[in-house]
Amino acid sequence: MLEIINVSKTFQNANGERIPAVSSLDLTVARNEFVCVVGMSGCGKTTTLRLVAGLDKPTEGRILVDGRKVNGPTPERCVVFQKYTLFPWRTVRDNVAFGLEIRRMNRQDRMARVRKYLELVGLGDYDMSYPFELSGGMQQRVAVARALAAEPKILLMDEPFGALDSRTREILQNELIGIWCNERKTILFVTHSISEAITLADRVVVMTRPGRIRRLIDIDLPRPRDKNCERFRKYNAQVRDLLNES
Ligand SMILES: Nc1ncnc2c1ncn2[C@@H]1O[C@H](COP(=O)(O)OP(=O)(O)O)[C@@H](O)[C@H]1O
Ligand SMILES: [Mg+2]
Repeated sequence: MLEIINVSKTFQNANGERIPAVSSLDLTVARNEFVCVVGMSGCGKTTTLRLVAGLDKPTEGRILVDGRKVNGPTPERCVVFQKYTLFPWRTVRDNVAFGLEIRRMNRQDRMARVRKYLELVGLGDYDMSYPFELSGGMQQRVAVARALAAEPKILLMDEPFGALDSRTREILQNELIGIWCNERKTILFVTHSISEAITLADRVVVMTRPGRIRRLIDIDLPRPRDKNCERFRKYNAQVRDLLNES
């Protein structure tokens, strides 16, 4: 479904030097696949996601979704960022409805869709709350509901649970897996946590600076995954070694 073909992205820093953020990246993601991109800070994960989202343009190469070239952001590719990006002046309900308003969906369909996705993330009773009334984990659930409400072909997630405490993070990981199983979504999920990647993904993309793929690893473990099992720890060590080598 998603093809990233020989994509490079360079930025210019303040001294006019060219900084390669992503270099000759090739990656194909199948429909309904859950792919995690893992790598140290600065290796090009966010840049890759922004290119797929259409928020940035590649310097070279091209990105296709269902064979069509990505030419800017559309609701078929929604992003959930690490920082809570909710509108503080809008209720939970109206935050989730925002993208649907922009698309001029009629009120009745909009409200039905908002209800469905708020219930899916366990916030059916919080529709009239404001973001400041919610915990960090709840706010991120709203952000996930807002992205899902657009019914995107691909859900793009950039360290969405990175600001949460470890217990909340585990709960949201489990919820996301549940949603992914039931809704059959294609997910590209960026994290710098090796164990988060192995917990979630069908396939882990190990990235190293400057914006290169070091290895693709199929995670052949049944879900829900036990972090303490032997094979989980083996995958963990494998990815850690790949990141340390580079
Ligand atoms: N808008 C930008 N302008 C200049 N350099 C950038 C910009 N965005 C990212 N970079 C650089 O590109 C590289 C990759 O950044 P990024 O994709 O944010 O990495 P990651 O998300 O893996 O931490 C870094 O060296 C970063 O400094
Ligand atoms: Mg980043």
